[in-house]
Amino acid sequence: MHKDFQQLVEWSLSEYSSLPWRQNRNLYTTLVSEIMLQQTTVGTVLNRYSDFLKTFPTLNELACATEEQLRHAWQGLGYYRRAANLHKAAISLNKEGFPESEEHLKNIPGIGPYTASAILAIGMDKPALAVDGNLKRVLSRYFLMETPYEKGLDDEIRALITDKNFHSILTESGPRKINEALMDLGRTVCRVKNPLCLTCPLSKNCKSLKAGNQEELPVRLKKTQKLIPLKLARFICKDDDNILLYKKIKGEWLENQWELPTAIVECEDEKLKQYPRFKADISSSKPVKTGITKYKIENFPITSCKTEIVENIPSYKNRELKYFKLNELPLLSTASEKVLRKLRIL
Ligand code: ADE
Repeated sequence: MHKDFQQLVEWSLSEYSSLPWRQNRNLYTTLVSEIMLQQTTVGTVLNRYSDFLKTFPTLNELACATEEQLRHAWQGLGYYRRAANLHKAAISLNKEGFPESEEHLKNIPGIGPYTASAILAIGMDKPALAVDGNLKRVLSRYFLMETPYEKGLDDEIRALITDKNFHSILTESGPRKINEALMDLGRTVCRVKNPLCLTCPLSKNCKSLKAGNQEELPVRLKKTQKLIPLKLARFICKDDDNILLYKKIKGEWLENQWELPTAIVECEDEKLKQYPRFKADISSSKPVKTGITKYKIENFPITSCKTEIVENIPSYKNRELKYFKLNELPLLSTASEKVLRKLRIL
């Protein structure tokens, strides 16, 4: 087993050492790259990482950035919430310094369990596992872990840290190298569909390859809860480079976030009171799919204007509706961001 992981690390070093976030790294650059790489492909980050660091070469410079500067530097990376988290974390770490335990790192605003373990393993080269989708897939296959995602696969993978054998693999090859090599393998070889087992450096002792069920791992339970279809109109009121948004209030989904004005066009659940109902004509609009709680949502972008909304949907008379410059948007709901991206407004 040790030999497999040595081979894996050698393969990763020879193929992927030149990734820019693997050059001249420090804790700050690791924080930036690990937050950037969440929910995004390596290709997207490759285009933006170096420019971002030119704009904010140090933790202090990022901590002092204005929202506008940050938004500008984050362009092309999507899901601005991650930039907001990165900024929050930078402000706190710039004052307090980087703590050296996972527990303390997780207490920093903007740092979740994945980022905490990635800073530890990749930034500090300490024994930890940055458990993302790639690691889950590679390790569940290699060790034949058949626990479903929903029944604690995450915990089982994290527990490998306390397994004597695995711990010695981590420390012998180095936590940083092992974590990055596992990520590289998951991204390029141990793929969700059609994994390239013939060329995989871990194939010799991969238990799922032996069992022949590698493509079925990691196990995901079939969703037992039936999702309720919900059709929402998302009104696009654009005035030059300004877009109309409203703020979600206490007790609503996504409290304090801003959204495109929204109405329920169709939903069999009459009890749903999150949005007003309005029979918008969605026949010529292509939906963007999202989900929240038990609802499977189709978001239909509809071009409109503020007057039309306030006149036709009375509840918007009492809401905080405001135009924002597209390059100075506040914290936007993920669904609204997705719709604006699809329309190439963002
Ligand atoms: N995904 C998340 N972190 C990564 C890293 N450091 N290298 C490659 N892919 C990653």
